[in-house]
Amino acid sequence: MNTIKACIFDLDGVIVDTAVYHYKAWKRLANSLGFDFTEHQNEQLKGVSRVRSLQLILGWGGVTKTEAEQEQLATQKNTWYMEMVNQMKPEEILPGAKEFLKSCRAVGLKTALGSASKNSMTILEKIGITDMFDAVIDGNKVSKAKPDPEVFLAGAQALGALPEECVVFEDAIAGVEAAIAGDMKVVGIGLPDVLKGANLVIKGLDEMTLDKLYKL
Ligand code: G6P
Ligand code: MG
Repeated sequence: MNTIKACIFDLDGVIVDTAVYHYKAWKRLANSLGFDFTEHQNEQLKGVSRVRSLQLILGWGGVTKTEAEQEQLATQKNTWYMEMVNQMKPEEILPGAKEFLKSCRAVGLKTALGSASKNSMTILEKIGITDMFDAVIDGNKVSKAKPDPEVFLAGAQALGALPEECVVFEDAIAGVEAAIAGDMKVVGIGLPDVLKGANLVIKGLDEMTLDKLYKL
């Protein structure tokens, strides 16, 4: 007898690989300020809010900006990011994501999106899967960033499930920590030595099955 009632999915890196677009846009911004950062440093930006990402990048470049300038820079990055997002096609949904969402819904499990991105709705529309979620909790609805569990707790509440009845799917360490802090089970998407603490780590949702879900 299992007690899982709901699945909550992060977006970037779990449903779509927009991480590469975030990276390109941030890199362009850093270059415009006269410095660069590595793909390895970029890992630290996963799951992190837009403003916080900018602060980390400015720190790497040893650049100081006023709050007003930071807002302008964040807006510039988002404009470049959205230029790429606007070209996205439904084929860019990651392998197995749609299929697993469908399997969940077919057995009556509730599904929610739990993402820090303020662009979540646009991305879901671009890839045509808005109707596969019973609730969408994104960066416009929460104020505390992962590893704070706010986004996932709001997701559970919107689905009418208790935290312990939810399973979170996350590719960022901050997200795995947020799920654990929220008392939820978590499936890591990525590498086991990065996503420490996850109940299970898989390479992508194409490796996920209901059988594995119920065994968590
Ligand atoms: C996700 C991504 C981060 C991104 C954040 C905010 O968590 O992993 O890389 O910074 O969302 O996204 P946004 O689209 O609002 O700039
Ligand atoms: Mg992510």
